[in-house]
Amino acid sequence: MSEQIYVGADHAGFQLKQRLVDELRRLGYEPVDVGPKTLDAADDFPDYGRPVAQAVSTGKARRGVLTCGTGLGMSYVANRFPHVRAALVWSPEVAELARKHNDANVLVLPARFVSEEEGLDILHKWLDTAFEGGRHERRVAKIDA
Ligand code: RB5
Repeated sequence: MSEQIYVGADHAGFQLKQRLVDELRRLGYEPVDVGPKTLDAADDFPDYGRPVAQAVSTGKARRGVLTCGTGLGMSYVANRFPHVRAALVWSPEVAELARKHNDANVLVLPARFVSEEEGLDILHKWLDTAFEGGRHERRVAKIDA
């Protein structure tokens, strides 16, 4: 069975979210698109951030992806949920470190500050990089202590 990855956005991240969903499907994942399903300039990021964070927090999904204009609002929402480590990422290098050192289980992309191609490169790096463990294990454990 392919891994379900929850994905959500607001209007500012809508276009990028569509690309991310297509790419996840192309890579063999099962994206669960919590919306929005159509572009609505008046929508609010918490309405789409919450269901993604909830799925990861409860263990329903192992990973999630969120995007809004700056990525900040989605990060605030997602990181309120226990066991969620949402990383606001703007380059593949940061994605790599967010996985290796922080075991980031939610990727947050700032749609107004990365191109769609950069967003896909970041997604690939985040998907393909393992947590390093070791000394980082202790640090990550302390987040929820
Ligand atoms: C929407 O205009 C914008 O405020 C939102 O996408 C996000 O950047 C909030 O943090």
